[in-house]
Amino acid sequence: MKILGIFASPRRGGNTELLLDEWLKGAEQEGASVERLYLSDFTITPCKECHGCDNTGSCVILDEMGKIYPKLLEANIVVLASPIFFYGVTAWAKALIDRSQAFWARKYLLKDPSLGREGKKRKGFFISVGATKGKKVFEGSILTIKYFFDVLNAEYVGDLLVKGVESKGDILKHPEVLQQAFDAGRKLVQNP
Ligand SMILES: Cc1cc2nc3c(=O)[nH]c(=O)nc-3n(C[C@H](O)[C@H](O)[C@H](O)COP(=O)(O)O)c2cc1C
Repeated sequence: MKILGIFASPRRGGNTELLLDEWLKGAEQEGASVERLYLSDFTITPCKECHGCDNTGSCVILDEMGKIYPKLLEANIVVLASPIFFYGVTAWAKALIDRSQAFWARKYLLKDPSLGREGKKRKGFFISVGATKGKKVFEGSILTIKYFFDVLNAEYVGDLLVKGVESKGDILKHPEVLQQAFDAGRKLVQNP
């Protein structure tokens, strides 16, 4: 089983990184093969809405997103971790998501069976943290991530959403939440 862990915070060693790392360690403990992708190490140009992918299902922009497309397709489980920035996911995550328009074109315009009902089924898990405790703090991001997972044929199987966490490493004050992340990774590999 291949798991792709997508780290979408630019702050290395920050709260989402610590949580996703625990999640992935749990998965590794159960024998999954895990790849860690730190988006801030990649140059991902935002989607230009040129519709260049409509007829081919491939993006015309030649940048480092080219390295990420195959990893998304190879994965059985995609775990995306992003802090909340202005009630959404980070620009790093959003650039990757918008560039997945090429998969959307494959799936919905070109009816590529590999992304259709008969195609490979994936699972998706979302991790997020926000500084505030607002009621709707994760709502926008959940919708975005659900729609992103849909183009990958990935079922949104769960999430770990933590409010009131702001400074780098604040999450370490909540060892029970880190344990929840570890357990969630372990459980999803045990019962995919
Ligand atoms: C540009 C920016 C925008 C933010 N917007 C929000 C927000 O809308 N709601 C919120 O609860 N926290 C917001 N935060 C706080 C972060 O979500 C919080 O500090 C989080 O713990 C950062 O996670 P990280 O350590 O993984 O980078 C924002 C932080 C930054 C830098």
